[in-house]
Amino acid sequence: MMTVKSLARTALAFTAELENSALIDNFGNDLMSALAIRPRCLSPKYFYDETGSALFDRICELKEYYPTRTEISLLTKHARDIAKQIGRRAEIVEFGAGSMQKIRILLDAIRAPARYLPVDISGAHLAASARALQRIYPKLPVMPVVADYTGALSLPDMAVNAARRIGFFPGSTIGNLSPLEALAFLKKAAKVLQGGALLIGVDLVKDPSLLHAAYNDSKGVTASFNLNLLVRANRELCANFDIEQFYHSAFYNAPAQRIEMHLMSRCAQQVRVGDQYFVFTEGETIHTENSYKFTIAGLQALAKKAGFQPATVWTDDDNRFSLHWLEAPAL
Ligand code: TRP
Repeated sequence: MMTVKSLARTALAFTAELENSALIDNFGNDLMSALAIRPRCLSPKYFYDETGSALFDRICELKEYYPTRTEISLLTKHARDIAKQIGRRAEIVEFGAGSMQKIRILLDAIRAPARYLPVDISGAHLAASARALQRIYPKLPVMPVVADYTGALSLPDMAVNAARRIGFFPGSTIGNLSPLEALAFLKKAAKVLQGGALLIGVDLVKDPSLLHAAYNDSKGVTASFNLNLLVRANRELCANFDIEQFYHSAFYNAPAQRIEMHLMSRCAQQVRVGDQYFVFTEGETIHTENSYKFTIAGLQALAKKAGFQPATVWTDDDNRFSLHWLEAPAL
């Protein structure tokens, strides 16, 4: 039976402990701690303010940025197959839902989805995307969850009419976590999805020149995305970064199997954040993101370690990108 409380919860967005205001506080603390140590290294989750989320959507449309296109064509090509695996009355949980474009391919193919739970750290972007999606699928219960899924990952109880939970984690976002964080995330996902499965999109190890081009686009959108972090710090934290005095630097670190993104100081300079001053030498960087690339065997080994049973893998003809169906056994 539905209680008054559960009804109230379905009506409103479920907000996990980490709300946007808390996120801003953490941005200040995390940025200052990052600047105080060497190498300087900050969590990529702070990229996604409103401007960052919009720039990210533009990255996904760039001709050099093959992952989005490739993943969408895999989803489209195998939608029926995937829908069969998902089954009827599934509750779909999407981690890092962003603009909710990819989920529509699945929603159009699956039968009688019970509910859709988009989880994202960017509250405003999440609410707007959820409203837009709800207009397209008026009968589908949509329940946005504002949360940092690298944290506690607390979700509302599964919908009463749902058969099982299926996680969707596209965009190779797993690659933006450190190997330890990725394992921790997958362990938590295996737990919240138990009895169901996870559909995860993962970028593959490949010719470094293709990788390099994907993160150094000719229009400079990825550069703006990276530099927007400093714009955000200036606005939200009263910092005084001179944006012109930093480069976007992205390169493939082959032994580590990852693209690294940095903000590199063009000159010797001093920057203020809040009431503290930080010195940069010429060429010194803030490491802002990693994007790990995987082999199929590597991803499957990680998934197994987290408690999943790897099943079907779909890849494109050029072996650029992979979609994995990972079963989450009931514990
Ligand atoms: N997870 C994707 C990737 O690593 C998308 C992404 C996250 C991205 N941050 C990015 C793409 C920064 C370009 C630049 O590719």
